[in-house]
Amino acid sequence: MTHGVRVWDVPTRLFHWLLVAEFAGMWYSGKQGGDLLEYHIWCGIGVAGLLLFRLLWGFVGSETARFASFVRGPRAIARYLKGELPEHEQPGHNPLGALMVLALLAVLLFQVGTGLFAADVDSYLYDGPLAARVDSSLAETLTSWHKLSFNLLLGLVGLHVLAIVVYRLVKRQNLVRAMLTGRKPLGAKAPNLHFASPVLAVLMAMLSAGGLYLLLSRV
Ligand code: HEM
Repeated sequence: MTHGVRVWDVPTRLFHWLLVAEFAGMWYSGKQGGDLLEYHIWCGIGVAGLLLFRLLWGFVGSETARFASFVRGPRAIARYLKGELPEHEQPGHNPLGALMVLALLAVLLFQVGTGLFAADVDSYLYDGPLAARVDSSLAETLTSWHKLSFNLLLGLVGLHVLAIVVYRLVKRQNLVRAMLTGRKPLGAKAPNLHFASPVLAVLMAMLSAGGLYLLLSRV
């Protein structure tokens, strides 16, 4: 029997859909340029806050959100690829999807990290909030890396969405619904997952916002 088992907590789902919204805002405002760069910077700061939260949540959050539980070794990846890993042994991200999650988080970190120091080489009106801390040639180098890594990020997002479509069409699994509702059909052997307290999530969100504020206000 298959039934919807709770796999994703609210903080992880909120993180994901806010990230998608901020990513869209960052993309649009970055491509338009001009005065929209002001919003681009705000979206980037928003993404930085979300990433800080997600990193903390990856250590103290619910079981399916923890890096230690979803990042698996080569043996689990091989079993997954051979179709030998049952659903209840991969309640959250599958072992291959976990690598994509790590890649997305790493490239997003690089993207916002370089963006904080990037210079608005056209008008110098909308420099990244930390650009004044480095000399202008370094700021310009970081700006070109920022532009290059966005292409890599777009490629990864494309692969990420493609994988979700393939799951829907080939494996007949609706991962989007799971990321929206938090529930997935895992079969009768569904594991008893640990969920972290919402209070802890609020504390981690405050810690991320506070950390980011301290970092940016020391300019
Ligand atoms: C409309 C487009 C998108 C859809 C439908 C979508 C859907 C999903 C789904 C279903 C998952 C869970 C996958 C699983 O079950 O293992 C997921 C995870 C994830 N997605 Fe997306 N995604 C989208 C766009 C994006 C974008 C634009 C980014 C980043 C720029 C992104 C980053 C991530 C990350 C980091 C995770 C891991 C979540 C976590 O563990 O915190 N996604 N996405």
